[in-house]
Amino acid sequence: MKFSIFLSDFLLHHDPVLISEIEAIFLDNSLHSCVVDATLGLGGHSKMFCSHMKQGDHFIGIDRDRDNLAIAQDNLANTPTWVHKNLVHSSFAEIDTIIQDLGLESIDFILYDLGVSSAHYDDGDRGFSIRFDAPLDMRFDRTQGKTARDLVMHMSEYELRDLMFKYADEKKAVHIARAIVEVRKTKSIDTTFDLLEIIKSSSYDDHSPKRVFQALRIAVNAEFEHVETSIKKSIDKLSLGGRIAIITFHSIEDRIVKNLLTSYLTGTIDDFTGQTIVPSRLSKYNKKPILPTEKEIADNPRSRSAKLRVLTRTF
Ligand SMILES: C[S@@+](CC[C@H](N)C(=O)[O-])C[C@H]1O[C@@H](n2cnc3c(N)ncnc32)[C@H](O)[C@@H]1O
Repeated sequence: MKFSIFLSDFLLHHDPVLISEIEAIFLDNSLHSCVVDATLGLGGHSKMFCSHMKQGDHFIGIDRDRDNLAIAQDNLANTPTWVHKNLVHSSFAEIDTIIQDLGLESIDFILYDLGVSSAHYDDGDRGFSIRFDAPLDMRFDRTQGKTARDLVMHMSEYELRDLMFKYADEKKAVHIARAIVEVRKTKSIDTTFDLLEIIKSSSYDDHSPKRVFQALRIAVNAEFEHVETSIKKSIDKLSLGGRIAIITFHSIEDRIVKNLLTSYLTGTIDDFTGQTIVPSRLSKYNKKPILPTEKEIADNPRSRSAKLRVLTRTF
């Protein structure tokens, strides 16, 4: 915990991705009485939200990671005291219950900045990064659930292969899965470096380690299931004129979000006439996804694959 704070304060240059674009969209209307940061992280975007909120407005920050939540709490310490702030340790998949338990009815603005925080990658203990030798954990919430080691040691060869194809388009999945199963017959695969060695010697591809780590992280945290569940619930809770903003970081995640949002934009079509009989309640804020500028990418290379999609509830 102390280590994470040290890293975030001194080693990381933590820039919230697409912050000025999100700020402009946030300020484009004055509906701020219930604002949710579904992926609080270190509180970068939240700090900006809170600085614009008024007396009596409610801010809710959610994160599955207790360490990040504690750092965010410190980072939000100097934001306006007149905003009701609730920082919740939970998955955003529980958004409906979280809102209800706080006695609130609808959401005016909700942001999802999906995936891993810079603190996760730069914390040598968590197992997210291929740069550090660490226990194979990769859980956002270290209080529950299976670790990456559990999956690597107990999934069948077929399941491992499928996971690498599905969550990372890993072309060498067949060879890597076979190698994992062979190695674990004689020894335990406990650390990131144990796994790296197996991936390198079975794939002969410098990009495979990153992809396999991504696939495992997505599986360990059931990321796509939580994203789909939560976005549906948030859209149901959006107030009239309210907005949902989602930043994705890789093509598979982006495809899932894009398809889900598209299904909400279509409305109900008459099977016979092909005419729209019930128009969609949502509209796109921006025709195309918003991307970081070249300057942002140069300043913060982690932003390079970010895509921001925003929808507004129109009736
Ligand atoms: C990219 S970071 C967010 C960074 C944040 N916007 C900032 O400015 O500091 C993503 C955060 O979402 C959290 N997270 C991932 N999945 C989650 C989920 N299902 N529910 C809640 N938080 C989640 C991670 O623990 C991580 O802290």
